Amino acid sequence: MTAASTLYPGFLTLDDAFNLTEDKVREMQLKHMNEYRTKLGLQGGLTFDIKHAEGCYIWDAQGNKRLDFIGCVGVYLLGHNNPFVIENVLKYLRSKPLTMDPMALKPITAAFAHDMALITPELTRTITNGGGGAEAVEAVLKLVRIAAGRNHPERRRIVSTLNSFHGKTLGAVTTGGKDVWRRWQPRVAGHTYIPYGDIDAVEAELSKGDVIAFIAETIQGEGGVVVPEEDYFPAVRHLCDKYGTYMIMDEVQAGSCRTGNIWAFQHYDGLIPDAFTFAKGMSDGVLPVSGIQVKDSLYQEAYGSYDSAMMHTATYQDNNISAAVALSCLQYMVEHDVATHVRTKGAEFFAKLETVREKYPDVISEVRGRGFMIGLKFGVDSQGAGYANRVAAVMAQKYFVHTMTSTNNDTILRVYPNIATTDEDFDWFIDALDHSIEDVIRTAAPAGAEASEPVKAEQLVSAR
Ligand SMILES: Cc1ncc(COP(=O)(O)O)c(C=O)c1O
Repeated sequence: MTAASTLYPGFLTLDDAFNLTEDKVREMQLKHMNEYRTKLGLQGGLTFDIKHAEGCYIWDAQGNKRLDFIGCVGVYLLGHNNPFVIENVLKYLRSKPLTMDPMALKPITAAFAHDMALITPELTRTITNGGGGAEAVEAVLKLVRIAAGRNHPERRRIVSTLNSFHGKTLGAVTTGGKDVWRRWQPRVAGHTYIPYGDIDAVEAELSKGDVIAFIAETIQGEGGVVVPEEDYFPAVRHLCDKYGTYMIMDEVQAGSCRTGNIWAFQHYDGLIPDAFTFAKGMSDGVLPVSGIQVKDSLYQEAYGSYDSAMMHTATYQDNNISAAVALSCLQYMVEHDVATHVRTKGAEFFAKLETVREKYPDVISEVRGRGFMIGLKFGVDSQGAGYANRVAAVMAQKYFVHTMTSTNNDTILRVYPNIATTDEDFDWFIDALDHSIEDVIRTAAPAGAEASEPVKAEQLVSAR
Protein backbone atom coordinates (compact mmCIF):
# COMPACT_ATOMS: atom_id res chain seq x y z
CA MET A 1 0.00 0.00 0.00
CA THR A 2 1.34 3.44 -0.82
CA ALA A 3 0.12 6.65 0.76
CA ALA A 4 -1.59 7.51 -2.48
CA SER A 5 -3.48 4.21 -2.65
CA THR A 6 -4.57 4.68 0.97
CA LEU A 7 -6.08 8.02 0.07
CA TYR A 8 -7.36 6.91 -3.33
CA PRO A 9 -7.87 3.13 -3.34
CA GLY A 10 -6.66 1.71 -6.65
CA PHE A 11 -4.23 4.56 -7.30
CA LEU A 12 -1.52 3.25 -9.64
CA THR A 13 2.06 4.27 -9.01
CA LEU A 14 4.76 4.32 -11.68
CA ASP A 15 5.93 0.91 -10.45
CA ASP A 16 2.38 -0.41 -10.81
CA ALA A 17 2.21 1.03 -14.31
CA PHE A 18 5.35 -0.91 -15.32
CA ASN A 19 3.55 -4.17 -14.47
CA LEU A 20 0.11 -3.64 -15.96
CA THR A 21 -1.33 -6.41 -18.13
CA GLU A 22 -2.20 -5.69 -21.75
CA ASP A 23 -5.92 -6.15 -20.99
CA LYS A 24 -5.80 -3.63 -18.17
CA VAL A 25 -4.02 -1.03 -20.29
CA ARG A 26 -6.55 -1.48 -23.09
CA GLU A 27 -9.42 -1.14 -20.63
CA MET A 28 -8.02 2.06 -19.10
CA GLN A 29 -7.28 3.61 -22.48
CA LEU A 30 -10.79 2.89 -23.71
CA LYS A 31 -12.26 4.34 -20.53
CA HIS A 32 -10.04 7.34 -19.79
CA MET A 33 -8.25 8.28 -22.98
CA ASN A 34 -9.17 8.72 -26.65
CA GLU A 35 -11.53 5.76 -26.95
CA TYR A 36 -11.96 5.71 -30.71
CA ARG A 37 -8.31 6.29 -31.51
CA THR A 38 -7.53 3.26 -29.36
CA LYS A 39 -10.25 1.26 -31.15
CA LEU A 40 -8.93 2.22 -34.57
CA GLY A 41 -5.45 1.03 -33.71
CA LEU A 42 -6.83 -2.25 -32.37
CA GLN A 43 -9.06 -2.80 -35.41
CA GLY A 44 -6.19 -2.06 -37.79
CA GLY A 45 -4.15 -4.78 -36.08
CA LEU A 46 -1.42 -2.26 -35.35
CA THR A 47 -1.80 -1.65 -31.64
CA PHE A 48 0.45 -3.79 -29.46
CA ASP A 49 1.58 -3.61 -25.85
CA ILE A 50 5.23 -2.76 -26.27
CA LYS A 51 7.27 -3.48 -23.17
CA HIS A 52 10.74 -2.60 -24.26
CA ALA A 53 12.59 -0.93 -27.13
CA GLU A 54 16.21 -0.97 -28.18
CA GLY A 55 17.92 0.01 -31.44
CA CYS A 56 15.57 -1.00 -34.25
CA TYR A 57 13.65 -3.56 -32.16
CA ILE A 58 10.57 -3.40 -29.98
CA TRP A 59 9.38 -6.26 -27.75
CA ASP A 60 5.70 -6.93 -27.12
CA ALA A 61 4.10 -8.32 -23.95
CA GLN A 62 4.41 -11.89 -25.29
CA GLY A 63 8.15 -11.41 -25.67
CA ASN A 64 8.07 -11.23 -29.48
CA LYS A 65 10.92 -9.26 -30.97
CA ARG A 66 9.54 -6.88 -33.57
CA LEU A 67 11.29 -4.80 -36.19
CA ASP A 68 10.41 -1.11 -36.12
CA PHE A 69 10.45 0.37 -39.63
CA ILE A 70 8.31 3.42 -38.86
CA GLY A 71 9.72 4.73 -35.55
CA CYS A 72 6.74 6.92 -34.62
CA VAL A 73 6.86 8.30 -38.17
CA GLY A 74 10.39 9.52 -38.10
CA VAL A 75 11.11 10.14 -34.43
CA TYR A 76 13.58 7.32 -33.70
CA LEU A 77 16.23 7.83 -36.36
CA LEU A 78 19.04 7.31 -33.84
CA GLY A 79 17.52 4.05 -32.62
CA HIS A 80 15.32 3.37 -29.62
CA ASN A 81 16.96 4.36 -26.36
CA ASN A 82 20.16 5.42 -28.03
CA PRO A 83 22.70 4.90 -25.21
CA PHE A 84 24.61 8.12 -25.91
CA VAL A 85 21.49 10.29 -25.87
CA ILE A 86 20.06 8.59 -22.79
CA GLU A 87 23.36 8.78 -20.87
CA ASN A 88 23.84 12.45 -21.76
CA VAL A 89 20.34 13.36 -20.61
CA LEU A 90 20.76 11.36 -17.39
CA LYS A 91 24.10 13.09 -16.83
CA TYR A 92 22.33 16.41 -17.13
CA LEU A 93 19.55 15.38 -14.73
CA ARG A 94 22.04 13.99 -12.21
CA SER A 95 23.66 17.44 -12.08
CA LYS A 96 20.53 18.60 -10.21
CA PRO A 97 19.88 21.33 -12.76
CA LEU A 98 17.34 24.11 -12.90
CA THR A 99 15.65 22.80 -16.02
CA MET A 100 13.41 25.81 -16.56
CA ASP A 101 12.86 29.28 -15.22
CA PRO A 102 11.53 32.19 -17.24
CA MET A 103 14.37 34.56 -16.52
CA ALA A 104 17.37 32.46 -15.43
CA LEU A 105 20.16 32.04 -17.97
CA LYS A 106 19.74 28.82 -19.95
CA PRO A 107 23.17 27.28 -20.55
CA ILE A 108 22.09 24.09 -22.31
CA THR A 109 19.59 25.85 -24.57
CA ALA A 110 22.13 28.56 -25.40
CA ALA A 111 24.70 25.88 -26.30
CA PHE A 112 22.15 24.11 -28.50
CA ALA A 113 21.24 27.36 -30.28
CA HIS A 114 24.95 28.09 -30.77
CA ASP A 115 25.51 24.61 -32.28
CA MET A 116 22.50 24.95 -34.57
CA ALA A 117 23.90 28.24 -35.87
CA LEU A 118 27.23 26.53 -36.64
CA ILE A 119 25.41 24.02 -38.83
CA THR A 120 23.31 26.59 -40.69
CA PRO A 121 25.37 29.79 -40.38
CA GLU A 122 22.80 31.76 -42.39
CA LEU A 123 20.07 31.05 -39.81
CA THR A 124 21.33 31.99 -36.39
CA ARG A 125 18.24 32.34 -34.18
CA THR A 126 16.61 29.38 -32.47
CA ILE A 127 13.37 29.02 -30.58
CA THR A 128 13.22 25.69 -28.74
CA ASN A 129 9.86 24.30 -27.61
CA GLY A 130 9.17 21.55 -25.17
CA GLY A 131 6.45 20.32 -27.48
CA GLY A 132 5.68 18.79 -30.85
CA GLY A 133 6.06 19.75 -34.47
CA ALA A 134 2.76 21.61 -34.61
CA GLU A 135 4.01 23.97 -31.92
CA ALA A 136 7.03 24.72 -34.09
CA VAL A 137 4.75 25.40 -37.05
CA GLU A 138 2.67 27.76 -34.89
CA ALA A 139 5.83 29.54 -33.76
CA VAL A 140 7.05 30.14 -37.28
CA LEU A 141 3.63 31.23 -38.59
CA LYS A 142 3.31 33.70 -35.75
CA LEU A 143 6.83 34.99 -36.23
CA VAL A 144 6.33 35.79 -39.91
CA ARG A 145 2.89 37.29 -39.26
CA ILE A 146 4.33 39.59 -36.57
CA ALA A 147 7.28 40.51 -38.80
CA ALA A 148 4.90 41.39 -41.64
CA GLY A 149 2.40 43.08 -39.35
CA ARG A 150 5.09 45.42 -38.09
CA ASN A 151 6.89 46.12 -41.32
CA HIS A 152 4.76 45.14 -44.32
CA PRO A 153 1.11 45.42 -43.27
CA GLU A 154 -0.02 45.04 -46.89
CA ARG A 155 1.15 41.41 -46.69
CA ARG A 156 -1.58 39.32 -45.15
CA ARG A 157 -1.54 35.81 -46.60
CA ILE A 158 0.30 32.56 -46.00
CA VAL A 159 0.59 30.27 -49.03
CA SER A 160 0.92 26.55 -48.39
CA THR A 161 0.53 23.43 -50.48
CA LEU A 162 -2.32 21.03 -51.09
CA ASN A 163 -1.83 17.57 -49.62
CA SER A 164 0.58 18.98 -47.04
CA PHE A 165 0.58 18.21 -43.32
CA HIS A 166 1.85 20.62 -40.68
CA GLY A 167 0.25 19.29 -37.50
CA LYS A 168 -3.10 19.53 -35.77
CA THR A 169 -3.14 22.75 -33.76
CA LEU A 170 -5.47 25.41 -35.15
CA GLY A 171 -2.87 27.33 -37.16
CA ALA A 172 -1.25 24.11 -38.33
CA VAL A 173 -4.48 22.52 -39.60
CA THR A 174 -5.33 25.77 -41.34
CA THR A 175 -1.94 25.68 -43.03
CA GLY A 176 -2.13 21.98 -43.91
CA GLY A 177 -3.49 21.03 -47.29
CA LYS A 178 -6.32 18.72 -46.23
CA ASP A 179 -9.85 19.79 -45.33
CA VAL A 180 -10.48 16.66 -43.28
CA TRP A 181 -8.41 18.03 -40.39
CA ARG A 182 -10.26 21.36 -40.42
CA ARG A 183 -13.77 20.03 -39.94
CA TRP A 184 -15.93 21.66 -37.27
CA GLN A 185 -13.42 24.45 -36.59
CA PRO A 186 -13.14 28.07 -37.65
CA ARG A 187 -10.12 28.72 -39.87
CA VAL A 188 -7.40 31.24 -39.27
CA ALA A 189 -7.83 33.99 -41.87
CA GLY A 190 -5.43 34.60 -44.73
CA HIS A 191 -4.49 31.17 -46.07
CA THR A 192 -4.21 30.07 -49.69
CA TYR A 193 -3.41 26.58 -50.98
CA ILE A 194 -1.65 25.69 -54.20
CA PRO A 195 -0.57 22.34 -55.69
CA TYR A 196 2.77 21.06 -54.37
CA GLY A 197 5.42 21.14 -57.07
CA ASP A 198 3.62 23.65 -59.28
CA ILE A 199 5.97 26.60 -59.73
CA ASP A 200 3.52 28.57 -61.91
CA ALA A 201 1.02 28.46 -59.06
CA VAL A 202 3.68 29.84 -56.71
CA GLU A 203 4.33 32.76 -59.03
CA ALA A 204 0.62 33.38 -59.59
CA GLU A 205 0.13 33.87 -55.83
CA LEU A 206 3.37 35.61 -54.88
CA SER A 207 3.10 38.11 -57.73
CA LYS A 208 -0.08 39.52 -56.14
CA GLY A 209 2.26 41.19 -53.65
CA ASP A 210 0.34 40.38 -50.46
CA VAL A 211 1.95 37.07 -49.45
CA ILE A 212 3.87 37.03 -46.16
CA ALA A 213 5.31 33.52 -46.49
CA PHE A 214 5.33 30.34 -48.50
CA ILE A 215 5.54 27.20 -46.35
CA ALA A 216 6.04 23.62 -47.50
CA GLU A 217 7.50 20.32 -46.37
CA THR A 218 10.81 19.59 -48.06
CA ILE A 219 9.33 16.17 -48.85
CA GLN A 220 5.62 15.72 -48.13
CA GLY A 221 5.45 13.00 -45.50
CA GLU A 222 1.84 12.47 -44.47
CA GLY A 223 0.86 13.28 -48.05
CA GLY A 224 2.60 10.11 -49.21
CA VAL A 225 6.37 10.71 -49.36
CA VAL A 226 6.05 13.12 -52.27
CA VAL A 227 9.39 14.35 -53.61
CA PRO A 228 9.01 17.40 -55.88
CA GLU A 229 10.92 17.86 -59.14
CA GLU A 230 14.56 18.81 -58.60
CA ASP A 231 14.15 22.41 -59.79
CA TYR A 232 11.02 23.21 -57.72
CA PHE A 233 12.47 24.50 -54.46
CA PRO A 234 15.34 26.46 -56.08
CA ALA A 235 12.67 28.14 -58.24
CA VAL A 236 10.51 28.81 -55.15
CA ARG A 237 13.53 30.44 -53.47
CA HIS A 238 14.04 32.63 -56.52
CA LEU A 239 10.38 33.71 -56.57
CA CYS A 240 10.34 34.39 -52.82
CA ASP A 241 13.34 36.69 -53.30
CA LYS A 242 11.73 38.35 -56.32
CA TYR A 243 8.45 39.12 -54.55
CA GLY A 244 9.68 39.72 -50.98
CA THR A 245 8.05 36.58 -49.51
CA TYR A 246 9.59 34.55 -46.69
CA MET A 247 10.36 30.93 -47.54
CA ILE A 248 9.69 28.44 -44.74
CA MET A 249 10.60 24.76 -44.92
CA ASP A 250 8.78 22.40 -42.58
CA GLU A 251 11.49 19.93 -41.64
CA VAL A 252 9.59 18.22 -38.84
CA GLN A 253 9.52 14.89 -40.66
CA ALA A 254 12.17 15.16 -43.41
CA GLY A 255 14.79 16.97 -41.32
CA SER A 256 17.24 15.80 -38.64
CA CYS A 257 19.23 13.51 -41.02
CA ARG A 258 16.17 11.47 -42.07
CA THR A 259 16.82 12.04 -45.79
CA GLY A 260 20.62 11.93 -45.79
CA ASN A 261 21.45 15.53 -44.98
CA ILE A 262 21.19 17.10 -41.54
CA TRP A 263 18.44 19.28 -42.99
CA ALA A 264 16.53 17.96 -45.98
CA PHE A 265 16.74 21.31 -47.82
CA GLN A 266 20.54 20.89 -47.87
CA HIS A 267 19.92 18.43 -50.71
CA TYR A 268 19.64 21.56 -52.88
CA ASP A 269 23.01 23.27 -53.37
CA GLY A 270 23.01 26.72 -51.81
CA LEU A 271 19.29 26.75 -50.98
CA ILE A 272 18.67 28.62 -47.73
CA PRO A 273 15.12 29.13 -46.43
CA ASP A 274 14.32 32.12 -44.21
CA ALA A 275 13.16 29.78 -41.47
CA PHE A 276 12.63 26.08 -40.87
CA THR A 277 10.99 23.89 -38.29
CA PHE A 278 12.43 20.85 -36.54
CA ALA A 279 11.02 18.20 -34.16
CA LYS A 280 10.70 14.38 -34.29
CA GLY A 281 14.27 13.22 -35.04
CA MET A 282 15.75 15.91 -32.81
CA SER A 283 14.25 14.13 -29.80
CA ASP A 284 14.89 10.46 -30.62
CA GLY A 285 11.73 10.01 -28.56
CA VAL A 286 13.50 10.69 -25.26
CA LEU A 287 11.46 13.78 -24.44
CA PRO A 288 9.31 15.95 -26.73
CA VAL A 289 11.25 18.78 -28.32
CA SER A 290 10.69 20.94 -31.37
CA GLY A 291 11.64 24.36 -32.57
CA ILE A 292 12.44 26.77 -35.33
CA GLN A 293 15.63 28.10 -36.85
CA VAL A 294 15.37 31.58 -38.32
CA LYS A 295 17.49 34.11 -40.21
CA ASP A 296 18.55 36.87 -37.88
CA SER A 297 17.10 39.59 -40.14
CA LEU A 298 13.65 37.96 -40.09
CA TYR A 299 13.84 37.27 -36.37
CA GLN A 300 14.69 40.93 -35.70
CA GLU A 301 11.74 42.08 -37.79
CA ALA A 302 9.42 40.16 -35.48
CA TYR A 303 11.02 40.22 -32.05
CA GLY A 304 13.90 42.68 -32.31
CA SER A 305 12.68 45.20 -29.73
CA TYR A 306 11.74 45.42 -26.05
CA ASP A 307 8.07 45.86 -26.86
CA SER A 308 7.97 42.55 -28.76
CA ALA A 309 10.23 40.56 -26.43
CA MET A 310 7.33 38.93 -24.62
CA MET A 311 5.11 38.36 -27.66
CA HIS A 312 5.99 34.69 -28.04
CA THR A 313 7.07 33.13 -24.76
CA ALA A 314 5.86 30.01 -22.97
CA THR A 315 6.55 28.15 -19.76
CA TYR A 316 8.46 25.39 -21.51
CA GLN A 317 10.03 27.56 -24.19
CA ASP A 318 13.83 27.36 -24.40
CA ASN A 319 13.91 25.02 -21.38
CA ASN A 320 17.20 23.27 -20.68
CA ILE A 321 15.95 19.69 -20.44
CA SER A 322 14.37 19.68 -23.93
CA ALA A 323 17.49 21.39 -25.25
CA ALA A 324 19.67 18.74 -23.56
CA VAL A 325 17.84 16.11 -25.58
CA ALA A 326 18.09 18.05 -28.85
CA LEU A 327 21.74 18.94 -28.29
CA SER A 328 22.60 15.29 -27.54
CA CYS A 329 20.83 14.12 -30.71
CA LEU A 330 22.59 16.77 -32.77
CA GLN A 331 25.99 15.87 -31.29
CA TYR A 332 25.38 12.19 -32.05
CA MET A 333 24.35 13.02 -35.64
CA VAL A 334 27.47 15.07 -36.23
CA GLU A 335 29.98 12.77 -34.50
CA HIS A 336 28.66 9.62 -36.21
CA ASP A 337 28.07 11.27 -39.58
CA VAL A 338 24.54 9.94 -39.50
CA ALA A 339 23.68 11.81 -42.72
CA THR A 340 26.23 9.86 -44.77
CA HIS A 341 25.19 6.56 -43.19
CA VAL A 342 21.56 7.27 -44.12
CA ARG A 343 22.51 8.16 -47.69
CA THR A 344 24.62 5.02 -48.18
CA LYS A 345 22.34 2.52 -46.49
CA GLY A 346 19.28 4.18 -47.97
CA ALA A 347 20.64 3.65 -51.51
CA GLU A 348 21.36 -0.05 -50.81
CA PHE A 349 17.89 -0.53 -49.33
CA PHE A 350 16.21 1.23 -52.26
CA ALA A 351 17.90 -1.28 -54.60
CA LYS A 352 16.51 -4.20 -52.56
CA LEU A 353 13.04 -2.66 -52.51
CA GLU A 354 13.20 -2.27 -56.28
CA THR A 355 13.68 -6.05 -56.64
CA VAL A 356 10.44 -6.61 -54.69
CA ARG A 357 8.67 -4.03 -56.84
CA GLU A 358 9.91 -5.80 -59.99
CA LYS A 359 8.58 -9.11 -58.64
CA TYR A 360 5.12 -7.61 -57.97
CA PRO A 361 4.70 -4.84 -60.57
CA ASP A 362 0.90 -4.96 -60.29
CA VAL A 363 1.03 -4.53 -56.53
CA ILE A 364 3.83 -1.97 -55.99
CA SER A 365 4.10 0.67 -58.68
CA GLU A 366 6.81 2.89 -57.18
CA VAL A 367 9.55 3.06 -54.58
CA ARG A 368 10.10 6.70 -53.73
CA GLY A 369 11.66 9.04 -51.20
CA ARG A 370 15.14 9.92 -50.08
CA GLY A 371 17.51 8.30 -47.56
CA PHE A 372 15.48 6.63 -44.79
CA MET A 373 12.23 8.39 -45.75
CA ILE A 374 10.71 5.89 -48.13
CA GLY A 375 7.26 5.41 -49.58
CA LEU A 376 6.04 2.31 -51.42
CA LYS A 377 3.14 3.08 -53.73
CA PHE A 378 0.66 0.22 -53.72
CA GLY A 379 -2.12 -0.44 -56.21
CA VAL A 380 -5.53 -2.06 -55.81
CA ASP A 381 -6.61 -5.66 -56.46
CA SER A 382 -9.12 -6.83 -59.05
CA GLN A 383 -11.95 -6.01 -56.63
CA GLY A 384 -10.68 -2.45 -56.26
CA ALA A 385 -9.45 -3.04 -52.69
CA GLY A 386 -6.18 -1.32 -51.77
CA TYR A 387 -3.16 -3.42 -50.86
CA ALA A 388 -1.20 -1.03 -48.63
CA ASN A 389 -3.12 -1.26 -45.36
CA ARG A 390 -3.58 -5.01 -45.70
CA VAL A 391 0.12 -5.55 -46.35
CA ALA A 392 0.97 -3.33 -43.33
CA ALA A 393 -1.35 -5.37 -41.08
CA VAL A 394 0.06 -8.74 -42.24
CA MET A 395 3.64 -7.50 -41.87
CA ALA A 396 2.97 -6.41 -38.29
CA GLN A 397 0.84 -9.35 -37.18
CA LYS A 398 2.56 -12.26 -38.91
CA TYR A 399 6.11 -11.10 -39.66
CA PHE A 400 6.54 -8.68 -36.74
CA VAL A 401 7.59 -5.79 -38.96
CA HIS A 402 6.09 -2.36 -38.31
CA THR A 403 5.34 0.24 -41.00
CA MET A 404 2.45 2.64 -41.56
CA THR A 405 0.46 4.11 -44.44
CA SER A 406 0.41 7.88 -45.04
CA THR A 407 -2.26 10.09 -43.47
CA ASN A 408 -3.36 11.82 -46.63
CA ASN A 409 -2.67 8.96 -49.04
CA ASP A 410 -3.38 5.42 -47.91
CA THR A 411 -1.93 3.89 -51.07
CA ILE A 412 1.53 4.73 -49.74
CA LEU A 413 3.23 2.48 -47.21
CA ARG A 414 5.82 4.44 -45.29
CA VAL A 415 9.08 2.71 -44.52
CA TYR A 416 11.28 4.66 -42.08
CA PRO A 417 14.20 2.57 -40.81
CA ASN A 418 16.66 3.81 -38.21
CA ILE A 419 20.44 3.75 -38.04
CA ALA A 420 20.60 0.73 -35.70
CA THR A 421 19.19 -1.42 -38.52
CA THR A 422 21.70 -4.06 -39.65
CA ASP A 423 21.96 -5.73 -43.07
CA GLU A 424 20.18 -8.78 -41.58
CA ASP A 425 17.36 -6.53 -40.39
CA PHE A 426 17.00 -5.00 -43.84
CA ASP A 427 16.76 -8.56 -45.20
CA TRP A 428 14.18 -9.41 -42.53
CA PHE A 429 12.15 -6.47 -43.81
CA ILE A 430 12.50 -7.49 -47.47
CA ASP A 431 11.45 -11.09 -46.70
CA ALA A 432 8.51 -9.89 -44.64
CA LEU A 433 7.38 -7.53 -47.39
CA ASP A 434 7.70 -10.25 -50.03
CA HIS A 435 5.79 -12.84 -47.98
CA SER A 436 3.13 -10.38 -46.84
CA ILE A 437 2.37 -9.38 -50.42
CA GLU A 438 2.10 -13.08 -51.34
CA ASP A 439 -0.25 -13.65 -48.38
CA VAL A 440 -2.42 -10.67 -49.30
CA ILE A 441 -2.61 -11.68 -52.96
CA ARG A 442 -3.67 -15.19 -51.92
CA THR A 443 -6.31 -13.96 -49.46
CA ALA A 444 -9.42 -12.28 -50.81
CA ALA A 445 -10.05 -8.76 -49.55
CA PRO A 446 -12.70 -8.51 -46.82
CA ALA A 447 -16.22 -8.50 -48.30
CA GLY A 448 -17.23 -5.06 -49.50
CA ALA A 449 -13.71 -3.70 -49.00
CA GLU A 450 -12.99 -0.42 -50.77
CA ALA A 451 -9.57 0.88 -51.71
CA SER A 452 -9.06 2.20 -48.21
CA GLU A 453 -10.40 -0.74 -46.19
CA PRO A 454 -10.08 -2.24 -43.62
CA VAL A 455 -9.32 1.01 -41.82
CA LYS A 456 -8.91 4.38 -43.46
CA ALA A 457 -5.38 5.75 -43.38
CA GLU A 458 -6.46 9.07 -41.88
CA GLN A 459 -8.05 7.09 -39.06
CA LEU A 460 -4.94 5.01 -38.55
CA VAL A 461 -2.77 8.08 -38.30
CA SER A 462 -5.21 9.61 -35.89
CA ALA A 463 -4.65 6.43 -33.98
CA ARG A 464 -0.92 6.89 -33.71
C1 LIG B 1 5.89 17.96 -41.75
C2 LIG B 1 5.20 17.91 -40.43
N1 LIG B 1 4.97 19.05 -39.77
C3 LIG B 1 4.38 19.07 -38.56
C4 LIG B 1 3.97 17.89 -37.98
C5 LIG B 1 3.31 17.93 -36.63
O1 LIG B 1 4.16 17.38 -35.67
P1 LIG B 1 3.52 16.86 -34.29
O2 LIG B 1 2.69 15.67 -34.61
O3 LIG B 1 4.72 16.55 -33.45
O4 LIG B 1 2.73 18.00 -33.74
C6 LIG B 1 4.20 16.68 -38.62
C7 LIG B 1 3.77 15.41 -38.01
O5 LIG B 1 3.73 14.37 -38.59
C8 LIG B 1 4.82 16.68 -39.88
O6 LIG B 1 5.05 15.56 -40.56
